[in-house]
Amino acid sequence: MSVDINSLKQQAAERAIEYIESGMVVGLGHGSTAVLVVRRLAELLQTKKLRDIVCVPCSVKTESEARWLDIPLTTLEEHPTVDLTIDGADEVDPNLDLIKGGGGALLREKIVAQASQREIIIVDETKLSPALGTQWAVPVEVTPFGWGSQIKFLESLGADVGLRQDVNGNPFKTDQGNLILDCGFGPIPEPALLAYELGRRVGIVEHGMFLGLASEVIVAGQEGIRHLKRDDKN
Ligand code: A5P
Repeated sequence: MSVDINSLKQQAAERAIEYIESGMVVGLGHGSTAVLVVRRLAELLQTKKLRDIVCVPCSVKTESEARWLDIPLTTLEEHPTVDLTIDGADEVDPNLDLIKGGGGALLREKIVAQASQREIIIVDETKLSPALGTQWAVPVEVTPFGWGSQIKFLESLGADVGLRQDVNGNPFKTDQGNLILDCGFGPIPEPALLAYELGRRVGIVEHGMFLGLASEVIVAGQEGIRHLKRDDKN
């Protein structure tokens, strides 16, 4: 039996939305899965099944979508703590650590994730991986100044580095005006060590490894939905 990936994304999104309650501050993720949450949330607000929600968008694109759908927005200045964020991911390992940033919004996504009391990640089962880096390059956001020197540094860590391009073949610019270097490492034996090395390099703004930030992952697959929780792990 083959199941359409978009249908799996929809199933994961709908399950996660069940955890949104009236009165919450909600983080809205970025990407093709997270946008399904935004659209369904708008319906629930319009039909008054949910009330008094304010949302923090993780990207300019999500902000535009939410505004278009009349979803009330707020900021981390007005609401420094987010009750629940629902976002997608590119790769999920057995520890519920993630690679994110396929859509280029990793910095804001990580800021919102660390401000969230609960971070629910929604994926289809193709995103599950035995080790981070197996299926996806690690996106590394760098300042435009000096990005060439970051390539050298990232290669010294073992990465196969590519400058991300937009649909027109120009360098992709993040919402902050930075660049993204996609770093193929292959399976990463010690993500925390790599995160430490990336974190102490000046000019690297942030990277797409989300370690310890997801409290739960909802996985939609051919056999149904699995709800993985960090507390469930041994
Ligand atoms: C956006 O920057 C990403 O972190 C997305 O959450 C991730 O790329 C998953 O996107 P899709 O839901 O479109 O696969």
